Amino acid sequence: MTVEQEWIRPEGRELLVPGTLSPRRAVPTKIERPEYVDKDEAVSDDCGPYVQTPDVIARVREASRIAALALQAAGEAAKPGVTTDHIDEVVHGVLLENGAYPSTLGYLGFAKSCCTSLNEVICHGIPDSTVMQDGDILNVDVTAFIHGVHGDCNATFLVGDVHPRAQELVTVAHDAMMRGIKVARPGREVNVIGRVIEKFTARHGMESVRDYTGHGVAEGFHNGLIIPHYDSAPAFDDVIEENMTFTIEPMVTLGSQEWESWDDGWTIVTKDRSFSAQFEHTMLITAEGPELLTVV
Ligand code: MF3
Ligand code: CO
Ligand code: CO
Repeated sequence: MTVEQEWIRPEGRELLVPGTLSPRRAVPTKIERPEYVDKDEAVSDDCGPYVQTPDVIARVREASRIAALALQAAGEAAKPGVTTDHIDEVVHGVLLENGAYPSTLGYLGFAKSCCTSLNEVICHGIPDSTVMQDGDILNVDVTAFIHGVHGDCNATFLVGDVHPRAQELVTVAHDAMMRGIKVARPGREVNVIGRVIEKFTARHGMESVRDYTGHGVAEGFHNGLIIPHYDSAPAFDDVIEENMTFTIEPMVTLGSQEWESWDDGWTIVTKDRSFSAQFEHTMLITAEGPELLTVV
């Protein structure tokens, strides 16, 4: 670990360790569940279609709006002294109030209603008894399922007073996502998106994570379309088409983008324990370009 990465860590903040999980949160039976809940596989994953009908698009729009509402509430709740489990409680509540099922709850063994990824956690952190401290950065990733489709978004929030270089990381991750979104236009290959994201992050001395990607999202949580966040050409040459719905969700690291997984099978951390930040939107591709759906 470089001196710089040690130095941006909030005072008294040790490397993260797994906390304790709260009991599973209930969902009223009147709320429709995705087919995969508490099964070993998600048969709705990886089976397309990549281009959506107007009816599916209208439903993805609704799911995305609800996901964005819950994400906003999570951001308001992210403060020093609060547990990541409390963030999960807030997200769970907003999704249910709006008639949506938390897509991650019971997805391939994931037992919470959102992902909470602090500091050196790149993605898929599990909400638990971990208490947030002044100077932390917290990513919350919310996916809502309603009327048979999903909408998926995430954002990284500053917890209290954050070191300027960590703030810069969060800004670069956000701006990298926005640059990737801007170039997502019909007729281009999806690999154009990662090319601009990787170039932009490198210019700031940061790295873009290669092994976790954006994805098509609609009837499937991850419908098989893959959107890399690095320059993958000539691979990933799917052509962007009108009426595709997919996510762009770059993860940006202050040190190396190399990662390892905790023994829980989910939590992905940087190998060098450098901080990582991420942002995600679900978008619809129109003739004029991308339209963000995960907005309130
Ligand atoms: N929402 C995440 C994504 O952007 C996926 C989370 S899957 C989970 O693709 F199981 F880790 F929750
Ligand atoms: Co996603
Ligand atoms: Co997500």
